[in-house]
Amino acid sequence: MTATPILEIDGVEKHFGGLAALGGVHATVDSGKLTAVIGPNGAGKTTLFNVITGILNPSAGSIRFMGKDITNSSVHEISRLGLARTLQIKSVFHGMTVRENLWIAAQSRQGIFRPFTSMKACRVANERADALLEELQLTHLASQEAVNLSYGDVALLEIGIALATEPKLLLLDEPICGMGPAETERTVEKIRELSKRIDIVIIEHDIEVVFDISDDIIVMALGTVLARGTPAEISENADVRAAYLGDDDA
Ligand SMILES: Nc1ncnc2c1ncn2[C@@H]1O[C@H](COP(=O)(O)OP(=O)(O)O)[C@@H](O)[C@H]1O
Ligand SMILES: [Mg+2]
Repeated sequence: MTATPILEIDGVEKHFGGLAALGGVHATVDSGKLTAVIGPNGAGKTTLFNVITGILNPSAGSIRFMGKDITNSSVHEISRLGLARTLQIKSVFHGMTVRENLWIAAQSRQGIFRPFTSMKACRVANERADALLEELQLTHLASQEAVNLSYGDVALLEIGIALATEPKLLLLDEPICGMGPAETERTVEKIRELSKRIDIVIIEHDIEVVFDISDDIIVMALGTVLARGTPAEISENADVRAAYLGDDDA
């Protein structure tokens, strides 16, 4: 018997007025793999993340996370079940230090953000913030205000904020967008490392990065899944080459 996929997307549609941003998406994400979602601009990748995380309700179809139906669950419920994402709109508090940002995220995971919360919750948040600083190698920046960070460090802090909720599955929407080569390499390395302990789905347009880090690739076009396979399978797929990689002789 094969293991239940961590995420099961079944016939998901999302319409914006007359536009079918998602026109019946069927896909699964396996635990223990790093999955990439690729496809041209407007293919529906971000909309799919929005529907999975409860930011948008699907117009049709169903979504299961770890076997549980989350189709119409709230953002908060889905997050509490262990599904986290980074947002394209940055969630970092600029006036706070790196450590404070992580502490608040860790604290909110415990469902409370009150000034006189229990000592235990406070201690747990402290420990989690410290562990995240270490894991992301941001300890030397712990007392820096986030506004002073480099682009790459902000991206890592964002990932840290998402990790503070201790997710089982992390969705990353173009995490290296806008980075130079050195920052890209460092961030990709971190994502690769993290994928050993939690499941990750990454939307990424840099095809070299995608082929380098992913175990599984889902190719979207026009709101549906065009192909699905390993990097080797996808690079050989004639439909993908024609539609996405711009290969004329495919
Ligand atoms: N909130 C929205 N309202 C109306 N149209 C939207 C909205 N979000 C996305 N779209 C449209 O849905 C399509 C898919 O967008 P998106 O999911 O952002 O694609 P991708 O992330 O693959 O580039 C696009 O045509 C986009 O303009
Ligand atoms: Mg997008």
